[in-house]
Amino acid sequence: MSRAEKSRGRGFKSRPRHLSGWDQAYRGGHKRSAPFHDIFDSTSNIAFFSSRIIRGSLVADVGAGTGRITLPLASLASHFYAIEPLPAMRTILERNVGQCDNVSVIASDTQSFSLPKQCDATVLSGVYDHFLNDEEREASLGAIYEYLKPGGILLMDVYIGSAASSPQRLIDACHDGPMAYLRYIGRSAHGRVVNVLLRYETYRDGILVSSVTERSPVSFSTPGGVRKMLERTGFVVERAWWDYAGTSFKEDSGTIVLQSRRR
Ligand SMILES: C[S@@+](CC[C@H](N)C(=O)[O-])C[C@H]1O[C@@H](n2cnc3c(N)ncnc32)[C@H](O)[C@@H]1O
Repeated sequence: MSRAEKSRGRGFKSRPRHLSGWDQAYRGGHKRSAPFHDIFDSTSNIAFFSSRIIRGSLVADVGAGTGRITLPLASLASHFYAIEPLPAMRTILERNVGQCDNVSVIASDTQSFSLPKQCDATVLSGVYDHFLNDEEREASLGAIYEYLKPGGILLMDVYIGSAASSPQRLIDACHDGPMAYLRYIGRSAHGRVVNVLLRYETYRDGILVSSVTERSPVSFSTPGGVRKMLERTGFVVERAWWDYAGTSFKEDSGTIVLQSRRR
């Protein structure tokens, strides 16, 4: 019986907690790197997610991070649940949502969270790649299923680019007055799991003032594998795109964007 079938009709009961690779990799992690998520993370997907949320609906953001997507979507929602397991990310999330009285921040992992109500829509942005095996994927999608209304939508993106090792290289640079921030990425592949190494350097007036490294294990999926997992956990995939502009097929795409509906 699939995770979704087990959860169907069970009501809002607590689920068994799966021990994940994530537990070992992230406990206490991102402490020094969390503030850099707001400096660098792109806004290209915010317009996409916003366009698919119905005004006045009840929405959840699973793995909300620092609230990059939470804030714009909360302005459309009647109420918004932002679920984030990492204290370092959550501290910034709580500060960012400060005065929004329709946002509840929930301290929980993606596999065993509970919500007071079922939602109309759930967003999973930049998170699916962090599930390191099918057990984590199934448990997280099962929890999302349980707190979506029947017919509710799940909007998600999944990185499907290269899983090969690659040396560290500069990928982003931002300037703000005397400050400059550089972001480097490198990958070290271990079978299906890839350790992504992100290095953030901060310069003031051209002088290096800090260098922070974050290690983030991810596991790449294929478009077919993601679809199968969604179907197994009780979702019907309605639409798939290869970027946030809604392109239906792109040869060299590194991302798949999906809209699924809870059965
Ligand atoms: C790349 S960030 C994306 C944050 C946010 N959704 C966004 O789009 O800006 C990944 C987030 O997923 C959270 N997360 C939740 N469950 C996770 C899991 N099992 N493995 C890894 N990250 C997880 C992390 O704490 C982190 O905040």
